[in-house]
Amino acid sequence: MSSPILALGRNQFGSPANKDNLPTLEEAHALLNEWVPNERLRLHMRQVSGVMKAWALEKEGADEHTALKWELAGLLHDADWEKHPESHCRIIIEKLEEMNTDPEVIHCIASHGPKYFGVEPETTMDKMIYVFDELSGFIHAAALIRPTRYEGMDVKGIMKKLKTPSFAAQVSRDDISDAISRIDTPLEEIIQFVIDHQKDIR
Ligand SMILES: [Fe+2]
Ligand SMILES: [Fe+2]
Repeated sequence: MSSPILALGRNQFGSPANKDNLPTLEEAHALLNEWVPNERLRLHMRQVSGVMKAWALEKEGADEHTALKWELAGLLHDADWEKHPESHCRIIIEKLEEMNTDPEVIHCIASHGPKYFGVEPETTMDKMIYVFDELSGFIHAAALIRPTRYEGMDVKGIMKKLKTPSFAAQVSRDDISDAISRIDTPLEEIIQFVIDHQKDIR
């Protein structure tokens, strides 16, 4: 995804009247199963979702309902990518608007690639989906080439791979640096958090 055609051309999503109106996790998973035949891509969304939820609960002191917003944003952020790469983000946003979903969740999904979609992350939830999206995939790629996967993985090894442009070359190091520059937590701490929480997500 790298083209200006992906720009959404707006910053307002959904309606304030739908605040706190969320699909259930069952509905979100059913939508994923229908829209995303590729299991690897569904795993990516479960991973971003799991890490988002864990961050909300452990680092933001979120209640269950708020954590569900983080979880759903992660779960659905790439739902339209496989079938509509040329309209990525637009299609899932329109679907969630039709479903009268909480605008915070839709804005969060719209924020996961400011360079591509033209929407700046505003809330902490917005900033964290941007932080976790590329890093989650990168760390999973690193796990897949290790015989013990996540077991014994350390931050240093991941930092080294980030400085190796040929490893997981499709992961944008620029996006990672840009995302990290918008939050107060150092990259090393984020990497450790992803390692700790992603290892059990299936
Ligand atoms: Fe995406
Ligand atoms: Fe993603």
